Amino acid sequence: MTWKIPLFKMYWDDDDVNLVSDTIRSGMNWAVGENISKFEESVASYIGTDYCLMFNSGTSATHAALIAHGIGGGDEVITPSFTFISTANASRVVGAKPVFADIEEKTLGLNPDDVINKITPKTRAIMPVHYGGCPCRIEELREIADDNNIIMIEDAAEAFGAAVGEKKVGTFGDSAMMSFCQNKIITTGEGGAIVTDSRELYEKMKLIRSHGRLETADYFSTTAVMDYVALGYNFRMSNITAALGISQLRKVERIIKMRKIIAGLYTNLLSEKVPEISILAAPDGYMHVHQLFSVRVPDRDGLMQFLTENGIMSKIYFDPVHLTHYYRHELGYQTSLPVTERVAKEIVSLPIYPGMPHEDVYTVVQAIADYYLVN
Ligand SMILES: Cc1ncc(COP(=O)(O)O)c(C=O)c1O
Repeated sequence: MTWKIPLFKMYWDDDDVNLVSDTIRSGMNWAVGENISKFEESVASYIGTDYCLMFNSGTSATHAALIAHGIGGGDEVITPSFTFISTANASRVVGAKPVFADIEEKTLGLNPDDVINKITPKTRAIMPVHYGGCPCRIEELREIADDNNIIMIEDAAEAFGAAVGEKKVGTFGDSAMMSFCQNKIITTGEGGAIVTDSRELYEKMKLIRSHGRLETADYFSTTAVMDYVALGYNFRMSNITAALGISQLRKVERIIKMRKIIAGLYTNLLSEKVPEISILAAPDGYMHVHQLFSVRVPDRDGLMQFLTENGIMSKIYFDPVHLTHYYRHELGYQTSLPVTERVAKEIVSLPIYPGMPHEDVYTVVQAIADYYLVN
């Protein structure tokens, strides 16, 4: 379906095209090359960590991080169910058990009190999610992890550039994942990263990312024989993709500013015209990057149908993971998460992207107001 107003659009310019084209035109190093380490260094410096490692998706990045942290069979990892399924599956694919804790209503991130309820002697890690670009109550979760000697891996897929005070998300965890999939703050089409201050973790993930190979040089450009010292995958980001990452990162502050303008406009118009809607506001001192603009509404499914009829795309982020067929029927999860289940019935994400025409924001808000006038 072609939407009159899509949910998101990529923000790109000639610098993106030129840097990618230069890499292609070189006729060399499309897989491995210096763009990757340059992009890694720039992301580490932007987020404020010692190390960064690029991957071909956020999902493969989290997979590698869990292996590197030594998480596996018999371990439990506490995550929200109000997330993309990949957060929970990351534990499944290494043989660990995702244990779902409920969220709280302000940030829609993990509720620290329920995390404490879910800790058992098997708990090895907490994996909090910064929903839609809003930091979760990450400082309290860090304290809980420290008090209980538990690892914390942030799922910052949706919150690149978000911060609590002066500290960016991604610097609270023992490691943190960022996604560069096409609907994220900066994007390489597909892609992801892990940031960490741990040299040991970084070295382990480097092996896991590329077949467990001890890479003393670019594998494709050397006659040297390399040894394989661990089990690994091909989770590598390509050098072409990394070129796009470098040019995207150069404009991240502009992108965030443009998103804030759209979110601000929605907030003003919706609070004025549609009292039925509940708008999510980040707590004081939390810097929200608005990867999503999600609101809670009555009669959500009716509203979405009306928006669709008017060519406006909206989407449910998220339907709870513990209620999916796979978790409920294949794995037998019976978890009850009252806040998650209530929020998931009311939540809807509205179109937002950098440079979204203001008249489109007016159109969306007017359509919502029209719907509640007659329903
Ligand atoms: C919260 C969350 N976690 C994990 C992921 C997975 O990232 P990717 O799509 O880059 O594999 C996403 C993005 O889709 C996400 O939104």
